[in-house]
This record gives sequence, C-alpha cells and structure tokens, in this order.
Amino acid sequence: MTREFRHDPVMVDEVVEALATTPQGVLVDATVGGGGHAAALLAASTSHRLIGVDRDPAAIEAAAERLAPFGARAQLVRARFDEVAAVLDELAPGEPFAGVLFDLGVSSPQFDEAERGFSYRFEAPLDMRMDPDDPHSAADVVNRWSEEALAELFSENGEPRFARRIARAVVAARPLQTTLELADVVRGAIPPAARQRGGHPAKRVFQAVRIAVNQELELLPVALERAASRLAPGGRAVVISYHSGEDRIAKRLFAEAAAGWCTCPPGLPCVCGAVPAMRVLTRGARMPSAAELAANPRSASARLRVAERLEAPWRAGGSGEEA
Ligand SMILES: C[S@@+](CC[C@H](N)C(=O)[O-])C[C@H]1O[C@@H](n2cnc3c(N)ncnc32)[C@H](O)[C@@H]1O
Repeated sequence: MTREFRHDPVMVDEVVEALATTPQGVLVDATVGGGGHAAALLAASTSHRLIGVDRDPAAIEAAAERLAPFGARAQLVRARFDEVAAVLDELAPGEPFAGVLFDLGVSSPQFDEAERGFSYRFEAPLDMRMDPDDPHSAADVVNRWSEEALAELFSENGEPRFARRIARAVVAARPLQTTLELADVVRGAIPPAARQRGGHPAKRVFQAVRIAVNQELELLPVALERAASRLAPGGRAVVISYHSGEDRIAKRLFAEAAAGWCTCPPGLPCVCGAVPAMRVLTRGARMPSAAELAANPRSASARLRVAERLEAPWRAGGSGEEA
C-alpha cells in the first residue's frame, strides 16, 4: 500500500486541449508525478497510449496506482526526463510520438513530506533529492560549494539582493545539518526591515538549492530539445514551468525551432536556408484561470507553453548541430 500521494495537477484542461487532440500515437508524460495529468489525458483520448516517466520512485508507485484502470494503455518508467528518447526506443520503437508534457518543479508530496527536506517549514536532514539514489543532496551543496558559487546560485534563482550576505552566513555557519538550521541562517542574514516583505525569507534560497541539487536548469534544455526533435509531424510539446529560468528555456527553444535556428540579422530576409521545425501555439505563456488560482494557490506561478512539430527535419538548415 503506497502512502497517500496528493498533488492537484495544474492547468489540466489546457494540457488536455493541447495533447489529446494530436494525431494518434504515444504520449509521454515526462514528469508523471501522481499521474493526474496522465489520467486526464488517457480519459480524454482513446487514440493515444501513454508512457509516464519520473525520477522519483514514490511518484512512479503513486502513478501506477492512479493509472491502473487504464491497463496496458499506460506504462511507467523510472527515468530522468533527458532519457525520454531512449525510453521511446525501448518501449515504442517505430510508433508515432504524438506529444510530450513537462510539468516542472516539485510535486506536493515532495514538499509536504517533511523527511524529504524540501521545505523550510519542517525540521529534516538537508536532502531535497527527487531521486533518492542521486549521489548529491542539499547538504553537499550547502556545506561544500564555495561562497562565490553559493552567492551566484542564490542570485540567479530569485534572491539577487542578499545573495552575498546569505552565502557568507551559510559558509560561516557550516556544517549545516538540517532544514531549520539553514532557514535560520538565511533569516539571520537578511536585514530585519527586509524580512517583513514577501513570504518566508528562506523560500527562494530553498528553491535555489533544490534547483542545484536536482540540476533542474541543466537537464531541461537537453531534455526538451531531445523530446521535441523526436515528435511526429503534428505532435506537440507542452511545458508548464513555475520559475522564470525554466520558462525562459522553453520559450527560447520553441522560438528558435520556429525560426529554424535562422542566423540572419534580425529584420533582413532569411538567406541562411533556415527551415522551421516547430510552430508556437501559445502567444506568450498561458496562466491558470482565476477559478483555478482560487481553488489551488500552488498553481499561482504556473506558465504553460505549447509548440507543434512541423514536417521539416530538426535543425534542417540551421547550425547543423544535432539534438
Ligand atoms: C509538478 S510534479 C508533476 C505532477 C504531475 N503532473 C501530476 O499530475 O501529478 C513534477 C514531477 O517531475 C519530476 N521530475 C522533476 N525533474 C525530473 C527529471 N529531470 N526527470 C524525471 N522526473 C522529474 C518530479 O519528481 C515530480 O514528480
């Protein structure tokens, strides 16, 4: 019996609208979590089957329970999302790849289960690994990274004003063992007047450490390009991000693929032979509706982008670089 896995999937109608309408084939939910989006997709379309991928074994267990009613139409694989191409080679060779979903960030259970160490609200060892078999935990980042590297990490991930002060305080307080120790150090490093504004002062620092532990910003561009390049014509990629760094990666890849990686100066006719490989379907990022925001406050930072694969080979006329 699995521990109850409660995660309210975000922007489900928008995901279903984008992916359940694609040509027949296999859909990949690259971040299957508790299987909420996956179940909605399988229920909405009988012309698709679905492979769900997640690096967290607790998520795979929960998704297996949730998707059991769909029988063989749902398959689950514990893997990292940059391994989607290999998963397709093994489980769906020759089948049209109709769509892929990346619902980024963490699931509610990852946050809410104190012992996983993601939350500044509960005392726990500094862990934050989505995959418990990964070699590096939050304790390694906090206790081993140089002061400069920590300052850069905090600064680039939402804490630009006090990044240096916090990094200095963390290094001075080493070794740090638990979440609450880290939260206290961060709080103490921020001037009292600034502590009153916004949420808990440790929120963005914890997010930055989590992003580093799980290499979130390094894996996403590779994973997204590998998956998008494999889509069948008419297949779609959907990305839901919760952080501006992630959203920028999706926006940039879709824009570059839609311009065929054109290298000509902006405003001049294209003479470099670029051939678009995708069409962007979302003008700007879509956000949750007011009703969804009221029902699920955790959806507040969600931004959704969709792009559709065209016939042209990936990077046909562009740099020649392969995904
Ligand atoms: C926001 S949750 C997804 C929730 C899911 N859409 C649902 O309906 O329940 C994000 C999931 O992505 C997984 N994840 C994050 N980075 C990953 C990666 N690089 N490879 C595979 N899974 C990843 C996390 O373990 C987590 O379960």
